[in-house]
Amino acid sequence: MNLVFLGPPGAGKGTIAVIAKDALGVPHISTGDLFRANIKNETELGKEVKAILASGGLVPDEITIKMVEKRLQEDDAQKGYILDGFPRTVPQADALAEMSKLDAVINFVLDPDEIIRRLSGRRVCKSTGRTYHITSNPPKVEGIDDETGEPLIQRDDDKPEAIKHRLEVYEAATAPLIEYYRAKGILIDLDCSGAPADILAELLKKLN
Ligand code: AP5
Ligand code: MG
Repeated sequence: MNLVFLGPPGAGKGTIAVIAKDALGVPHISTGDLFRANIKNETELGKEVKAILASGGLVPDEITIKMVEKRLQEDDAQKGYILDGFPRTVPQADALAEMSKLDAVINFVLDPDEIIRRLSGRRVCKSTGRTYHITSNPPKVEGIDDETGEPLIQRDDDKPEAIKHRLEVYEAATAPLIEYYRAKGILIDLDCSGAPADILAELLKKLN
């Protein structure tokens, strides 16, 4: 099954993708995670995009499309995929239509106040990308990753100025994709205000 997870920053796309990929038996492909891995490994691509991610702006379409095209050619993506955070612009959506046929686009719907609460309380393990929330999903020991024991960090783009910018960028560049995909008849709205296990159950029900 070929799925896109569409929605504002902080709606829980990554959190649900991590549990949905096992339920659906397809890889979770997050463009944000791919960029962050490149930054961590100090690749040429990583150096090019580091400041853009920290500010909360979008990486140019050409760079992003090329990276996704390459990733979708890997073996594991031949049985399907969950694309998380791509496409984020109309040119990216047009490029994806040339590469692959989508079964559904999941629109993550969440109240703006809850989005800000989720983003400002998010903490991540830098080496694994595992995600926590200081109150909704805290680690066993405050500030420490449950599995690796490493200290948790706050993403640069989860600081207040960058959150504000990301939400503006989402409204301007990405929100138009909701109508783009609704017009194609493949958009599924998903209320993301509940607990992750309930959201996953609702998603699987809607996909059936
Ligand atoms: P990316 O990493 O995709 O960031 P994003 O879209 O801003 O999304 P987030 O990861 O912030 O939110 P999420 O929806 O995954 O929420 P999460 O599950 O973590 O992109 C980062 C950057 O990369 C972009 O700004 C851009 O620069 C670049 N980029 C990426 N893709 C690009 C593209 N296609 N084109 C151009 N540039 C691109 O959850 C958030 C918090 O809420 C966590 O703390 C979590 O624990 C908590 N939480 C989640 N679900 C629940 C729940 N149900 N109940 C309570 N708490 C919850
Ligand atoms: Mg994410």
